[in-house]
Amino acid sequence: MHPNNNNFPPQTNNRATGFAQTGASVPPGSYPVNRPNFGPGYPMARPGATGYAPTARPTLPQVRPNLRPVNQVGNQIPNLQINRNSPEYLRTLTADQLRREVIETELEIQKTLLESERAYRKNVSTVLDLIAPSAIDVTTTHLLIGTKYARSFFVLVFPRIIVSGWLEGIINSDIPLDLAIYIYPEDSGEVMKELRKKLAKVQAAIQINQERGAARDPALETAYQDIENLRDMIQQAREKFFRVGIYVTVYADDLEELERYSQVVEGVLSRQNIIMKRAALQMDDGFNSCLPIMKDDLVVTNNLNTSPLSACFPFVSSDLSSDSGILYGINRHNTSLIIFDRFQLENANCLVLATSGAGKSYAVKLEILRSLMLGVSVIVIDPEQEYKDLAETVGGTYVNMSLNSPNRINPFDLPKPLPGESKADILRSAIIDLIGLLKLMLGGELTPAEVSILEQAIQQCYAKRDITPNADFNNIVPPTMGDLAEILSGIVGAENILQRLYRYTEGTFAGLFNQRTNININNNFVVFNLRDLQEDLRPIAMYILLKYTWNEVRSELKKRYLVVDEAWFMMQHEDSAKFLLGLVKRARKYWLGVTTITQDVGDFFNSPYGRPIVNNSAMKILLKQAPSAIETLADVFNLTKGEMQVLLQSGVGQGIFFAGSRHVAIDIISFPTEHQIITTNPEEVLKRQKQKQASLDN
Ligand SMILES: Nc1ncnc2c1ncn2[C@@H]1O[C@H](COP(=O)(O)OP(=O)(O)OP(=O)(O)O)[C@@H](O)[C@H]1O
Ligand SMILES: [Mg+2]
Repeated sequence: MHPNNNNFPPQTNNRATGFAQTGASVPPGSYPVNRPNFGPGYPMARPGATGYAPTARPTLPQVRPNLRPVNQVGNQIPNLQINRNSPEYLRTLTADQLRREVIETELEIQKTLLESERAYRKNVSTVLDLIAPSAIDVTTTHLLIGTKYARSFFVLVFPRIIVSGWLEGIINSDIPLDLAIYIYPEDSGEVMKELRKKLAKVQAAIQINQERGAARDPALETAYQDIENLRDMIQQAREKFFRVGIYVTVYADDLEELERYSQVVEGVLSRQNIIMKRAALQMDDGFNSCLPIMKDDLVVTNNLNTSPLSACFPFVSSDLSSDSGILYGINRHNTSLIIFDRFQLENANCLVLATSGAGKSYAVKLEILRSLMLGVSVIVIDPEQEYKDLAETVGGTYVNMSLNSPNRINPFDLPKPLPGESKADILRSAIIDLIGLLKLMLGGELTPAEVSILEQAIQQCYAKRDITPNADFNNIVPPTMGDLAEILSGIVGAENILQRLYRYTEGTFAGLFNQRTNININNNFVVFNLRDLQEDLRPIAMYILLKYTWNEVRSELKKRYLVVDEAWFMMQHEDSAKFLLGLVKRARKYWLGVTTITQDVGDFFNSPYGRPIVNNSAMKILLKQAPSAIETLADVFNLTKGEMQVLLQSGVGQGIFFAGSRHVAIDIISFPTEHQIITTNPEEVLKRQKQKQASLDN
C-alpha cells in the first residue's frame, strides 16, 4: 500500500493511544533544559491531543538506531545502514508495518524519557535530602537517628480507674519526647454484643463458684458491676466506646541519657498503675507512630469508654488550661494550650506591657476576635487606627473622633441609674469626674479656690437643667460646656478659668467638646478612633470617651471588655491617670474587664497610679522588653533572672503570661485567617486591600 494514502491511521480506529497519552500527560514547556529534545515534529507538544489528523504524516524522531540489514546467511552487510526516519524507508512499509513502527518508536521515546527522568532525579538534591538524617540505625532497643537516640513506648494496661491529668507528669517533665494518642471509635452495636458475651462468662464463673460453695470472688463481682454499668451507659448513649493507642518516643544524646529518661517516663506512669512497655523489636514502628503523620504502625490499643478517654486529654496538665475561655497562646514550657477565662479571676482587668512592635495590639486583637465569639462585648479606644480592619470584618461600629468628623460626645452626660443606685451618688461622681476633666483641659494646676468655683458652677449647670437627685434621669437633657461657660461668666473670680476654657467653648476646639452626644454604641464591638486628633487633645478625648463608656457600662450590665490602647497618653497627666485607675478599680462590679496597653514602662511606673493599676489587673501579658525597662519590671513583677532573660530575648508575640499568681512563658499564635484580619504589617495590609478591591471590582 502506498504510504501516502489517506487511510493512515485507519479512519475507523484513528486514536493512536501512545500519542494520546504522551500528549495529554506532558504539558508543553514543563521540561528541564537538560532533557532530550525530540524535535519540532514530536506530537507531545500538543496538550490534550487524542490522535492526529488522518492526513497528517508523522515525522518520526531520530530515536531508534538505524537498521543494519543482514544478508541471507544472517551476517550484517558492512557499511549498509538504513535510516528508519527517512521518507524512502517509510515509503517501503505497508500500513501495518508503519503503524507498528510508530508504536515501537513511541515506546522507545517513553523509555528514553523515563531513563532521562530517573537520571535527572538521581542528581538533584531535594529538601527531603537536606533535612533527613544521614542514617538511621534500627536496633531492638532503640533507634539512632543521625546522632540522636530515640526509644518508643506504648501503654499496655490501664488500671480500673484513671485520674484526669495522668499524663501531666510526662508532659511537664523536661525530657524531650513526642506523645501520640490514636483514638479509634468503635461501633456501639458490636461493643454491646461483646459485652454481652463477656457478661455471660463472668456470670457463669460467679455461678460456678457459688455451686462449688467457694468464697465469693470480689474481682469477678467488680467486673460484673463494671460491665453492667457500661452496658447501661452505652445503651443510653451517654458513653461511647473507643480503641485507644498511646505511644511515647523519648530522645537523648547518648545511650546513658536515653536509659535515664526511659526510667523516668516508666516511673511516672507505673506510680499510677499504668503499665508501659518498650516497643522492643518495633522501634521504627514506634518512632513512625509518634510522628505527626497519623500513621499508627504499632497498633497496640486498649478499650476505653468516653469518661476515661477524656482523662487522656493532654493539655489539662498546665495550670493555665481551663475548660472555658479562649485560647491565648501556647505554653512554651510544655507546649500545652493556654486556655483561659478572664472573668474567672478575682478581676477581669488585664495589663499589656511591651516595647513598640512587640505585638501588644496584635495579642489584644486576637483576644477580642476570639472573645466576641463567646458573646463578650468590647469597646476599644484606639489612638493609632489599629482596630479598623477588625471592626469592619466583624461588623463592629467604628467611630472616628476628630474635629472634622460629625461624632460628638457630651462630657456632662449621666448614666441611667441601675436599680438600687442612688442618684445623688451618680451626680456626685459625675461632678468629681468633670472636675478631673476640666483640670486636664485647663492645663496646669488649679488653686483650691478655683476648684471650688468649678464645683459650684457644675452643680448650677445641672440644677439649671432641673437635674437634681430627685429628677428622673431617664428624661433629662444634660448641660454642655457652653452652659458652664455662661455660669462661670457670672461668678466673680472665675475670669481666669473662663479664659482658659475659651479654647473649648468658642475657640478652635469648640465643636468637639461643646455639643450634645450624637452617637449610639448599640453594638457588641465598638472602636473609637483618635488618630486624627491633635496629640494634646488625645488625653482629653480619651478621658471623655472613658467617661462615656463608663456611663454605658453602668447603665446596662453585660460581660464587657474595655480596651485602652496606648494608655501612656493617659498616664502622662495626673488627672487622667487617676481616672483610669478609678475605672480599673471599679470595673469588676460592673462585669467589666479593662485592658490597659502601654509601651512606655517609664511613664507608666513614674506615675503614682501605675503600680495600683498593676495590682488591680489580675491578668498581665509582658512581651519583649527594652533593657532600660527590665529592672523596673523585675521589681514590680518579681521576675527571676531567667524570666528577665526571656523578656529581653523574646521574639514578636512571645513573652510571659500572668494569670493571678501563676505565670508561664507564652507564644501568641494566630490562625492564618485571624492573622489576615489583625496584622498591621504594611505589606500584608496593602496586599489585603488589593485583594478586597479586586473582589469588589469583580
Ligand atoms: N503573635 C504574632 N504573630 C505574628 N505576627 C505578629 C504577632 N504579634 C505581632 N505581630 C506583627 O508584628 C507587628 C507589630 O505588632 P503590633 O502592632 O501588635 O505591635 P505593638 O506592640 O502594638 O506596637 P505599638 O506599640 O507600636 O502599637 C504587626 O505587623 C503584627 O502583624
Ligand atoms: Mg499597638
